[in-house]
Amino acid sequence: MTKRWMVYASLLLVLTLGLMGCGGNQQSAKVLKVGAEATFAPFEFQDEKTKEYVGFDVDIMKAIGKQMGMEVQIVNTGFDGLIPALEGSQIDVIASAMTITDERAKKVNFSKPYYKSGLSMVVKADNTTIKDFKDLEGKRIAVQIGTTGAEAAKKIKDAQVREYNSASEAFLELKAGGADAVVNDLPVNEYYLAKAGSKEAKLVGDVLDAEEYGIAVAKKNTELAGKINKALDEIRQNGEYAKIYEKWFGKKPQ
Ligand code: ARG
Repeated sequence: MTKRWMVYASLLLVLTLGLMGCGGNQQSAKVLKVGAEATFAPFEFQDEKTKEYVGFDVDIMKAIGKQMGMEVQIVNTGFDGLIPALEGSQIDVIASAMTITDERAKKVNFSKPYYKSGLSMVVKADNTTIKDFKDLEGKRIAVQIGTTGAEAAKKIKDAQVREYNSASEAFLELKAGGADAVVNDLPVNEYYLAKAGSKEAKLVGDVLDAEEYGIAVAKKNTELAGKINKALDEIRQNGEYAKIYEKWFGKKPQ
């Protein structure tokens, strides 16, 4: 071999070893890919300034990841695309304020519930005719596609249900006058109202039904489901869960 070839060969060796060191299984095994539709404050959304993903679910997942010795990476995915992404292994878990339902439980493995929620409705501040869910008959209702809110709205007689990719688009439609009400998760409605101000919209009626959020993993992934449940127990015990809950909701967990 000529001297020049030896230099090339050794360069190649160094490069290959270098690539093997930084890519590869070792590191990716430590990353937990978390799917979330990240325009759902206060659960998952982007910080306006830093563009980082933040929220209750994000903090909970980071705390769970810490217990498991894994790094958490948020993969922003349309809400109706989350379960397909899980089934296709593009993500490892879903943490997206996802309500545990029988229908979904046929396709995914849910963790123990980690948050108690419910559906509620928002109308324009000057609306005096819609006071309860029964007043929604024949009305135009804006919802986020694929959600339990969309399901509930479709059950209302003669309702014209308009589905949007995000809850924020549904709120915009209400503001623009294209919808009479938004049916959506109560804590998200409350957060929206706290930001938008009481001049724009208001919460009316009772909370429709009690819902619980769960973290979902693929059906076949029972091992990961067990690890997540264990980590959830641990963060409840070590006080981390309560800390995160208070940070986002300003009160102690129920
Ligand atoms: N809890 C509702 C459901 O499971 C809505 C969740 C929407 N989540 C989101 N990140 N956009 O259907």
